[in-house]
Amino acid sequence: MDLRAPCCTVIIIAIIAVIWITAAENADRPCMARSTVNGSVCVCTAAYCDTITRTVPLSGSYVSYISSEAGLRFHKTIGKLYRHEKDETSETTIEVDVTTKYQSIEGFGGAVTDAAGINWQNLTDPRLKRHLIQSYCSDQGLQYNMLRVPIGGSDFSTRGYAYNDLPEHDVKLANFTLEHEDYEYKIPMIEACMEVATAPIEIIAATWSPPIWMKTNDEFSGNSRLHKKYMQTYADYHYKFLEKYAEAGIPVWGLSITNEPLHSSINYIPANINSLGWNMDDMRDYIMENLGPTLRNNNSMFKDVKIITGDDLRFTIILYWNMLILVYPETLQYLDGVAVHYYMNAYTPPTILSQAMENYPGKFVISTEISAGAMPTDTVKVNLGAWDRAELYAGDIIEPFYRPTAGHRPPLTCRRIEH
Ligand SMILES: *[C@@H]1O[C@H](CO)[C@@H](O)[C@H](O)[C@H]1NC(C)=O
Ligand SMILES: *[C@@H]1O[C@H](CO)[C@@H](O)[C@H](O)[C@H]1NC(C)=O
Ligand SMILES: *[C@@H]1O[C@H](CO)[C@@H](O)[C@H](O)[C@H]1NC(C)=O
Repeated sequence: MDLRAPCCTVIIIAIIAVIWITAAENADRPCMARSTVNGSVCVCTAAYCDTITRTVPLSGSYVSYISSEAGLRFHKTIGKLYRHEKDETSETTIEVDVTTKYQSIEGFGGAVTDAAGINWQNLTDPRLKRHLIQSYCSDQGLQYNMLRVPIGGSDFSTRGYAYNDLPEHDVKLANFTLEHEDYEYKIPMIEACMEVATAPIEIIAATWSPPIWMKTNDEFSGNSRLHKKYMQTYADYHYKFLEKYAEAGIPVWGLSITNEPLHSSINYIPANINSLGWNMDDMRDYIMENLGPTLRNNNSMFKDVKIITGDDLRFTIILYWNMLILVYPETLQYLDGVAVHYYMNAYTPPTILSQAMENYPGKFVISTEISAGAMPTDTVKVNLGAWDRAELYAGDIIEPFYRPTAGHRPPLTCRRIEH
């Protein structure tokens, strides 16, 4: 395995020869594999579920975890590192430049949508429900420390809804209550994750569509804008959401302006999911005059909540970050970062992310959405064992770690890693 080849390379100071020792750590429960037509999956039952715990390598050794198309799943091996100036017998070379540091990583996670909660609650055996949460959130699993939650309904809901849908034109939002999806699906699932997590869970929230009376088209989907007279109401709507979730014991870490504003902003794109379009001038006004002051004023309980722009396809970072802060640099006083989604990544290289951040220390890019099989062109929605989908997710996680460095041009897209 040559770590220089495909994806995430760093440069070179010491030459370390590695000798592999195949001493598997046996403390974890292995994957109960089942072959399907398209690959291998791990089966969890009420009585059994695979686990994987982090092993801290001793000085001079390393721990490797390998999942493969052939069927390995987080296969853990521990090996020793030997340091030599030159070791002609070794085939493997890892070169690490410990003097150059790149970005810091806030965390990893997934989305708690209505669909996720419905499927989780539909598992009848409480042990199986617990396995699922532990596989994602506990130190026997992926240790998620970030969760994204839709504010109201999303395209992963069974109905269109927002909060305070009625009465209409209620600028005081006097009837703002959470809905049964929050109480039955989203909040319990987040709580279950928080309970088993070893670190605080950071929640990122986003609205897909506000109540339709705030919108120019009076519908959840389709081409729309916010009525200008409801800009402050939309900010207050978010403040109330933060309050309700805080009351339920769930502090929110970050808030985006709106999920995927682009497609409902462009007339000829059929935006057939819950959405809200924005133009740049309105977005500037909303940040500067409504959302920013609402969250950051002295009486706010949510001064530390991150304000995140974008939350749309990767290439839109040019629009919702580069261009927004070029034309309206004052928005940087409120904006903490920009969020990107996976779809159509092939149109722009991942280096666009690091380039966008180059002159803005302290600001961040965060990936908030990927969903294999979700595009209208994907006829197969669930495809058990499909390794190409695993690669899609892995690539999307690895790609943003690229940084162009002098004399080293990273490839534009992540290649397949062969083991
Ligand atoms: C819940 O699970 C049952 C099988 O246990 C299945 O028939 C049903 O479609 C599921 N419901 C949802 C909403 O997924
Ligand atoms: C308040 O909202 C609920 C739904 O959450 C709705 O059933 C009720 O009619 C609303 N009240 C008024 C006065 O519109
Ligand atoms: C296996 O993958 C192919 C190609 O993606 C797909 O058409 C087929 O439906 C999949 N089979 C199952 C059982 O998911």
